[in-house]
Amino acid sequence: MKKVVILTGAGISAESGIKTFRDSDGLWEEYRVEDVATYDAYLRNPKLVLDFYNARRREVFKAKPNEGHRQLVRLEEKYDVQIITQNIDNLHEQAGSSHVLHLHGELTKARSDRDDNLIVEIGDKEIHLGDKAPDGAQLRPHIVWFGEAVPNIEPAAKMCEDADYFVVIGTSMNVYPAAGLIHYVPRTSPCWLVDPKAVPISRAINIVQEKAGTGVKKVVDELLQMGK
Ligand code: APR
Repeated sequence: MKKVVILTGAGISAESGIKTFRDSDGLWEEYRVEDVATYDAYLRNPKLVLDFYNARRREVFKAKPNEGHRQLVRLEEKYDVQIITQNIDNLHEQAGSSHVLHLHGELTKARSDRDDNLIVEIGDKEIHLGDKAPDGAQLRPHIVWFGEAVPNIEPAAKMCEDADYFVVIGTSMNVYPAAGLIHYVPRTSPCWLVDPKAVPISRAINIVQEKAGTGVKKVVDELLQMGK
């Protein structure tokens, strides 16, 4: 089976009612990254940071996958499909996608503030000061904050090296190392971009300048038609 690798960002969840980061009504208009999304911020004001992610978790648990998430599941009829997402929601999994790698963490998990490998499932539960991991350390969100290492970048780069087709959906490609993944995709592998904005990408790419709710279906239909 040929491999389709898909890189998604906040835009694919926008039509599910989850705010993006850098659009005009995005989260980084309302909050400063330095206040809520760095380890320093967490040391300075842990309650503010925990509350920020508790609010994100509430938002996600109200949301349902949209047509963009659902269309990607159809690709599994014909392809070996790997999704690499920058999103911390679980809407790809809820839609039924089988292989989802989270680059920036997951809201449904927490981990020990002392041991990065001690990860616990929390589902929709909030994290409060005083909530402890099994090792007795404070629980923190299982989120990759700015300035922290991205442990899943190596497996993601390997997936991109093996891609026969590559699709980018709903990301401003502002945040590295995620934005650099496209450069691991072989030059001979066709690429698509679905985004209502003209996102600058320095390689040949088929552009579908639409929202995910309509644009993803066009790319999926094209991929499913190929080789018929
Ligand atoms: N369908 C598809 N794309 C959309 C839609 C939609 N309905 N609505 C908005 N978009 C696009 C925007 O045009 C933009 O290009 O989604 C993109 C969102 O970009 P960002 O807000 O920058 O989100 P993202 O690229 O995922 O951010 C990367 O930054 O703050 C961090 O950790 C956070 O994972 C996040 C990372």
